[in-house]
Amino acid sequence: GLPARVRIHEVGARDGLQNEKSVVPTEVKAEFVRRLAAAGLTTIEATSFVHPKWVPQLADAEQLFPRLDGLGDVALPVLVPNERGLDRALALGARRIAVFGSATETFAARNLNRTVDESLAMFEPVVSRAKAAGVHVRGYLSMCFGDPWEGAVPVAQVVRVAKALEDLGCDELSLGDTIGVATPGHVTALLTALNEAGVPTGTLGVHFHDTYGQALSNTLAALQHGVTTVDASAGGLGGCPYAKSATGNLATEDLVWMLDGLGVDTGVDLGALTATSVWMAEQLGRPSPSRTVRALSHK
Ligand code: HMG
Ligand code: MG
Repeated sequence: GLPARVRIHEVGARDGLQNEKSVVPTEVKAEFVRRLAAAGLTTIEATSFVHPKWVPQLADAEQLFPRLDGLGDVALPVLVPNERGLDRALALGARRIAVFGSATETFAARNLNRTVDESLAMFEPVVSRAKAAGVHVRGYLSMCFGDPWEGAVPVAQVVRVAKALEDLGCDELSLGDTIGVATPGHVTALLTALNEAGVPTGTLGVHFHDTYGQALSNTLAALQHGVTTVDASAGGLGGCPYAKSATGNLATEDLVWMLDGLGVDTGVDLGALTATSVWMAEQLGRPSPSRTVRALSHK
């Protein structure tokens, strides 16, 4: 069966814009988030409190975050890699953070300048301090299926790091197919192995990139397994600057089109969302790669 409702974790303003060649003006980012909220998205990842030299596209986090006041109940999670990032996020009143680990050593080194275990040690005080402050913590886990340098990633390796993130106290885990190589059978096998290791499906979200056009199929496999949190990026923006061959995320419009057709509630107004992505594509000066955005905007 399928869930009656899916919570979309919108990552366009973070995963999308971190990968743009041009730096988007802060006010355009703020307007993007406001339009996403107006389209019915309730969880909108806003920015990252990482080192500004590592991700210059999001170096305006201090300027952006305060501009997002007044969005009511919309959750605005932010990425935080370490205590320095947590201090910055807490100083601005962030109520949801996300740490981001890797299932592979190569990506941990390239993305965090740490080994897998050193990055877990880096997250430990971040998660415990956040929890003590009543802040919700998401744990991303990248390279859950394949890694551009290491190839296919063994399920047992992913399960080990997922368990470690859960043991740190993360409230939810997001399983990242950073470079978009997963296929549906692999998704089901990983979810099953995580359940067998004691990680319940209810704490799991999925984060697919659409490099090989498999993101929707993979999502459907995850929904059939009971997953109800799905990451997606408006207009299919995205990638990761530290993972070669990562392209855009699953487009939120493609996801909503499928879920609308299946009768699964998301609370998202597809017309308003598409208009937002068309507007953002104009700001970026290139068309959205989303098939649904293209279809709905060329009627
Ligand atoms: P490092 O060079 O090892 O940092 O980088 P360090 O701990 O040695 O500190 C060096 C200097 O940086 C110090 O300054 C720190 O204060 C400063 P100094 O004392 O020399 O003057 N510093 C900071 N400044 C501001 N904010 C901070 C911060 N931290 C240290 N937070 C570090 C380690 C983690 C900082 C770096 O590797 C980094 O920022 N990485 C972020 C990479 C990133 O954002 N990648 C994209 C997100 S992950 C993703 O996209 C995947 C995902 O979508 C899921 C999927 O698809 O799989 C989530
Ligand atoms: Mg990503």
